Amino acid sequence: MTFLGRTGCGDVNETNIGQELRFSGWVYRRRDHGGLIFIDLRDRSGMLQVVFNPEGSSGAHSLAHDLRAEYVVEVTGKLCKRPEGTENSGLPTGKVELYAGSLDILNESAPLPFNLEDQDTSEVLKLRYRYLDLRRPQMQRNLLLRHKAVKAIRDYLDVEGFVEIETPMLTKSTPEGARDYLVPSRVNPGFFYALPQSPQLFKQILMVSGFEKYFQVARCFRDEDLRADRQPEFTQIDLETSFLGIEDIISITEGMLARAFKETLGVELVVPFPRLCHKEAMGRFGSDKPDMRFGLELADMAGPARKSSFKVFLDALEKGGRVMGLRGIGMAGLSRKEVDDLTNSVKEMGAKGLAWIKIKSGFESPITKFFPQEAMEEMASSLGAQEGDMMLFVADTEKVVQNTLGRLRIELGKKLGLIPEGAVWKPLWVVDFPLLEWDDEEERFAAVHHPFTSPSDNDVERILAGDINDKALLSSLRAKAYDVVLNGYEIGGGSIRIHRQDVQSRMFSMLGISKEDAAKKFGFLLDALQFGAPPHGGLALGLDRLVMLLCGAESIRDVIAFPKTSKASDLMSGAPSNVEQKQLRELHIKLDVPLEE
Ligand code: AMO
Ligand code: AMP
Repeated sequence: MTFLGRTGCGDVNETNIGQELRFSGWVYRRRDHGGLIFIDLRDRSGMLQVVFNPEGSSGAHSLAHDLRAEYVVEVTGKLCKRPEGTENSGLPTGKVELYAGSLDILNESAPLPFNLEDQDTSEVLKLRYRYLDLRRPQMQRNLLLRHKAVKAIRDYLDVEGFVEIETPMLTKSTPEGARDYLVPSRVNPGFFYALPQSPQLFKQILMVSGFEKYFQVARCFRDEDLRADRQPEFTQIDLETSFLGIEDIISITEGMLARAFKETLGVELVVPFPRLCHKEAMGRFGSDKPDMRFGLELADMAGPARKSSFKVFLDALEKGGRVMGLRGIGMAGLSRKEVDDLTNSVKEMGAKGLAWIKIKSGFESPITKFFPQEAMEEMASSLGAQEGDMMLFVADTEKVVQNTLGRLRIELGKKLGLIPEGAVWKPLWVVDFPLLEWDDEEERFAAVHHPFTSPSDNDVERILAGDINDKALLSSLRAKAYDVVLNGYEIGGGSIRIHRQDVQSRMFSMLGISKEDAAKKFGFLLDALQFGAPPHGGLALGLDRLVMLLCGAESIRDVIAFPKTSKASDLMSGAPSNVEQKQLRELHIKLDVPLEE
């Protein structure tokens, strides 16, 4: 007998008709039609219908009676055209089927805890049996697409002269704004490593070492509150360059994204991407990651608000805050309860309330009595609101107004069907960020990006010469930072870095980090900056978010092979778990909670 190599289930079509072929894979479905038995055989490449005919091959047919879902089998047979009327246009191999000659059962499967085809299997069950969930064609497609995206990006960066270099996982903390995951050191009692929140400091040091263009597909660890687009460990396409400016890095990144889109989806992204400065993004969309797939912009209401006697608005303006509005398209018919629900959701976002005016034959609202007709007409005209619409207003500090209306804008975008379905790609750069932001809780300034981000050229001298306690000065500083945003997600961010030791030290002082603390935490960076550090800058793309968007997935969990729950646990392996007393003793750790058995 001649040797038959294995063919992929999804790799055949009408051109293979008449060929004798061998397939191996999993039984996805089995249908017993009395005489004929059909199975859908699945492997990584796709799905193929196999027919067992008692008259064609009785041995294989009688064995096929034993097949159950997810049995692993090998089948050989002849590929045939499906009889007229039995084609399946939903399947790439739907015009053909295999007439089985022989069947081998390579392994059996216990009954599955859930049906792979069930759409509403609970997330908990799927994560507990992740290996089964990953067998679903959709999950296979997602992870294969992720592979393709990474390959495209690696190839692109290689051609652009980037060198892939690994940096340590057991390291010191890099402040990216989250809590660290700590790892105790057995041989250094009482000392801990931090898992990297990003390779930020190492990549800068690689520039000092002269590598000029670095990249890494880097795993990052952040102990923060988790959401659909946040995992405790995630992957960045991390890069850093020497001697290049913002324009170069932006154009390298655009090329990289364009390549990833082309190789995975065949889509040509239009470059260069549009840009918005941070202030404009916040003012028009209430977000530093605006979803540009739809309009519905925020509008300033200070003018008409001043003409009113509505205390809520006047008070906010008096205190230096803002009054802004959104157009609730076609929402004049909302019931009392719907308006209350909307108000509550805005309150949950952090606003004190939601003021509204419906536009019917006239303006309708409990607050119309505070507004002259002319003011309401002015509000309607700046919002572009018409009869049938509802005007929605929030008054508060600028931050609260923009944040809440920005989130309301997204909610309305979804609810009112303003976000186009399917593959509409609206990338943009958000640039010209403030360098620092006042943190009310900590009562000090914090870096908007991270403490290694360079101030704009004009600001460097102002910082070196100025008073670091001057709040007005610190609030006015601009950063050489940029974020890349796609369809409402921040998919990457970066900056030109501080390459002068004196400026970096000054930056630490502005952030309230003492000289001693700076030396303790970042001494190695400050040291390195004295020895001929080149001007440098870079960026990191959130690979998981990018792939999530490419796959049309709702959560980055769907594009990570073994993700964690919102409580940061891995339901499959059971991590995190308790450890033995002996291990804790070796690490010189005493718990202040009981050790669970
Ligand atoms: P930043 O903190 O903005 O920058 O991170 C870069 C990108 O990583 C993604 N990202 C995440 N993805 C999933 N889960 C998370 N918890 C998570 N946190 C961040 C986002 C984000 O845009 N060192 C700098 C980069 C630089 O300056 O070069 C950094 O880490 O898509
Ligand atoms: P009040 O005068 O508190 O009864 O509020 C009158 C209306 O204004 C209600 O619809 C409130 O939800 C709304 N409102 C209260 N505070 C604010 C605010 N800060 N911004 C917008 N609307 C508000």
